[in-house]
Amino acid sequence: MKNTILISGTNRGIGLELVKYYANLGWRVHACCREPDAAKALSALADGDQVILHKLDVSDSRQIQHLARELSGEAIDILFNNAGIYGQADAEFGNVDEQQWLDCFRINAMSPLFVAEAFVNHVAASEKRLIATMSSKMGSMADNGSGGSYAYRSSKAAVNAVVKSMSIDLKPRGIKVVALHPGWVLTDMGGPNAEITTEESVKSLARNMESVNLENTGCFLDIDGSVIGW
Ligand SMILES: NC(=O)c1ccc[n+]([C@@H]2O[C@H](COP(=O)([O-])OP(=O)(O)OC[C@H]3O[C@@H](n4cnc5c(N)ncnc54)[C@H](OP(=O)(O)O)[C@@H]3O)[C@@H](O)[C@H]2O)c1
Repeated sequence: MKNTILISGTNRGIGLELVKYYANLGWRVHACCREPDAAKALSALADGDQVILHKLDVSDSRQIQHLARELSGEAIDILFNNAGIYGQADAEFGNVDEQQWLDCFRINAMSPLFVAEAFVNHVAASEKRLIATMSSKMGSMADNGSGGSYAYRSSKAAVNAVVKSMSIDLKPRGIKVVALHPGWVLTDMGGPNAEITTEESVKSLARNMESVNLENTGCFLDIDGSVIGW
């Protein structure tokens, strides 16, 4: 039986590469983005059968519920919370914008939980039963040696807490949960000085997801597969 993955934020960057990777493996891919009509690169991959486009703004709970209902009865092996924003570029001490911080928190920390809640039955009905959420090393307290970036850092630290709680709550249903760091990746967010391509990142992310089981569920994995300190 073909496996299925649902990915958010797939019109560019790592999300778009995840779609290509899993489509090449022959998986059924539910590729979600905010504006499907404007998603040219993604539309070129969509065939309505193996790669299916969906409109999903992860900060809109009604859209999340609507999509979950539309896909009701379909097993989803990997639910991949990829969508994220950096938010205010200069969110430094003395300069943090309240509303932009809230927006960052909503998209990076709260939406992954709401998406997981909406799709938990789809995941529970699948073979692989994995919920993966894109975090960042910038959310690690242990790794924070440079300070600043209040909004982004705190939103990713918060989503790590969400991942940890979900791993405990969903273990009895056989669902594995993981927080992933994708490396410093050449995307709009990563910028031109980043260290690895989206292809390199996604290949490793896929390998790392395969290493998650019900024993190590709730872990925070670096791109080389090692565990990152919270
Ligand atoms: N690049 C890196 O070095 C790096 C490092 C650590 C972690 N990450 C994480 O990896 C993930 C992907 O990042 P990226 O580098 O691929 O970034 P990107 O190129 O900026 O792409 C971000 C994606 O998220 C989507 N998105 C943003 N807000 C959304 C919302 N409300 N609803 C649905 N989609 C939304 C964007 O859609 P629009 O085009 O509609 O805005 C876009 O598809 C993020 O969670 C990011 O925090 C990246």
